[in-house]
Amino acid sequence: MALHKDSYVLLNDGNRMPVIGYGTYAPQNVPKHLAEEGAKVAIDVGYRHIDSAFTYLNEAEVGRAINAKIADGTVKREDLFYTGKLWSSFHTPERVRQGFEKSLKDLQLDYMDLFIIHLPVEFKPEDNPFPVDENGKFLYHNTDLRDTWKAMEALKDEGLVKSIGVSNFNKRQLELILSMPGLKYKPVCNQVECHIYLNQSKLLEFCKSKDIVLVGYSVLGSSRDEQWIDQNSPVVLEDPVLNAIAKKLNRTPAQVAMRYLLQRGVVILAKSFTPARIQQNFQIFDFQLNAEEMKTLDGVNKNLRYLDLKQLADHPKYPFADDY
Ligand SMILES: NC(=O)c1ccc[n+]([C@@H]2O[C@H](COP(=O)([O-])OP(=O)(O)OC[C@H]3O[C@@H](n4cnc5c(N)ncnc54)[C@H](OP(=O)(O)O)[C@@H]3O)[C@@H](O)[C@H]2O)c1
Repeated sequence: MALHKDSYVLLNDGNRMPVIGYGTYAPQNVPKHLAEEGAKVAIDVGYRHIDSAFTYLNEAEVGRAINAKIADGTVKREDLFYTGKLWSSFHTPERVRQGFEKSLKDLQLDYMDLFIIHLPVEFKPEDNPFPVDENGKFLYHNTDLRDTWKAMEALKDEGLVKSIGVSNFNKRQLELILSMPGLKYKPVCNQVECHIYLNQSKLLEFCKSKDIVLVGYSVLGSSRDEQWIDQNSPVVLEDPVLNAIAKKLNRTPAQVAMRYLLQRGVVILAKSFTPARIQQNFQIFDFQLNAEEMKTLDGVNKNLRYLDLKQLADHPKYPFADDY
């Protein structure tokens, strides 16, 4: 079926996820009110899927935007799909609910559509979300991910979340959950970095084979946050092959980069706080890439991961040392 602005994927628990989502992460120095204004523009433009997280420190603003757009009649709550994330200092089963409730309270919503484990890597369970020792080294913890998952299942059973999933998991970590004794709900998705330079073909194939949706983040090449990302890495939207195709089709590089992933069956998240770009990034349903253009774009893959989280590479559950 042709993709259109209201297209969704059917999740393995029967719920629906819109194929394009509005991302709200911005580097620390960006004022939080921009997330609120951006989310309102996004809903006005037609986005029905919104992604945030406890550590983006903007759930109060994003929730205000959602509630304002419900109050002014633009959307109903059931038309929207909100994703939140369990932060790494809340993996112990007794803290999962606490982590979830903090977010829900900030959002001023009654439920989340999707709640996902943000990272397989766990930090020490304490109030500081980024606990460090006297040398600035992160303090780790190591709960069995299957115990965290059981607590996630309980949130779904209570009706507090419609669907549960994971993020930044590698194949082995997905398999650990899928093969756990007494598994009640499979993860509906794995949200991972995905763009023309990291096209995730192996992980995508694996996820498809298990009926898990691959949700792609940083599809435009990320905001290149200085805190986390190598400033010398090549820039997705400046790629010459991408630009040549965009020029030929009279589209922008961002639109082609997003359309490429959609056509491969990836659900995409894109962030912008610039109203014209929020709109532009949603105009990707009135053109198509042909087989040759898709193949050409397959060819620019470099297995380049912007958010490699090298600072966490010595954690036993660091996800990015495996091939995929
Ligand atoms: N699960 C995870 O661990 C994880 C990690 C990273 C991201 N995410 C989620 O995924 C979302 C998207 O990823 P992301 O924020 O890393 O990056 P992204 O969406 O790939 O890129 C955002 C950057 O691209 C710029 N931009 C947006 N549209 C553009 C256009 N049409 N032309 C040129 N530049 C454009 C934005 O600038 P302006 O805002 O100035 O327009 C911003 O600097 C996040 O916001 C977050 O919700 C999840």
